[in-house]
Amino acid sequence: MPAKPLQFYLDAIEQADLPGVEALRVAWLGRNGTLTDALRQLASLEPEHRRQVGQELNRLKQAVEQHLAQRQQQLAADALRLRLASEAVDLSLPGEPVAVGHPHPLALIQDRLVSIFVAMGFAVAVGPEVEDDWHNFEALNFPHDHPARDMQDSFSLAAGGWLLRTHTSPVQIRAMQLSAPRPLRIIAPGRVYRRDDDATHATSFHQIEALVIDQAVSMAHLKATVATFARTLFGQDVPLRFRPSYFPFTEPSAELDVGCLFCQQAGCALCKMSGWLEVLGSGMVHPKVLTAGGYDPEQVSGFAFGVGIERLAMLYYQIPDVRLLLEGDLRFLSQF
Ligand code: PHE
Repeated sequence: MPAKPLQFYLDAIEQADLPGVEALRVAWLGRNGTLTDALRQLASLEPEHRRQVGQELNRLKQAVEQHLAQRQQQLAADALRLRLASEAVDLSLPGEPVAVGHPHPLALIQDRLVSIFVAMGFAVAVGPEVEDDWHNFEALNFPHDHPARDMQDSFSLAAGGWLLRTHTSPVQIRAMQLSAPRPLRIIAPGRVYRRDDDATHATSFHQIEALVIDQAVSMAHLKATVATFARTLFGQDVPLRFRPSYFPFTEPSAELDVGCLFCQQAGCALCKMSGWLEVLGSGMVHPKVLTAGGYDPEQVSGFAFGVGIERLAMLYYQIPDVRLLLEGDLRFLSQF
């Protein structure tokens, strides 16, 4: 079929809607379209005739293609404009929020503590949560059947001699065994287990152990280190109290209390009306412990302390019940 004049095509395009434009394209330019067909038939024409007709046909084809594309674009734009007008989209409405997680408050506090100690020159050490009696008690100068073991009621495992570590202090022994006789300055964050369960004690909680061994390490170093750490975390004016205590693996021993931030030391249920909360146990490393770790107590001395991370988090964020930190309730956790 011979091609029609350009105006014929333009009129049809002008009338077409969006599906119509596509239908026209197929009818004219598709594999069996009329223009495709006409081009195919060029082959049967006389050579000079073919050249002229070919040029005209190709020009026509290009014009038709271009107008089809223009019309299609214009119709699509019109359709979009119409839809936007009729749907009255309010682009100022907030989008669907995506729930993004964040670190647990205990992880936040632990990270802060670790960076405070790393800034003071401590390296991070780790130890296993399933311990043997020797590392957890014996090497720390808790003899068998000694009443000091009652301080830390443990979970023992059925398999011979293993228990869930009751504190991070066994990491002291493990770190010493790896480092002796060189100077040592480590912290060891981790989870510990005890048979306790009330508003201020949970069966599982977290500690950060610190251990420093060198020549002529004194109680003054210990005191300055824990005071610096507490003031960095809670502010320069936080009330601090260093109180004598007892641990089998340190001599002398002391605990650090921080002024209760819940009641501003007026006295409340959490501080048991004392105005103070205990946050760490500490002391000078006992000579027997140095020996168990492979150090010579005649050559070196050291200090150690163990911080309760939950206690610090409770104080820092003013959380009244330790169990909130362990339940995984999103209504609580999303507040941090
Ligand atoms: N391990 C002791 C505890 O649980 C804390 C402590 C660590 C005390 C290091 C002295 C030195 O409770």
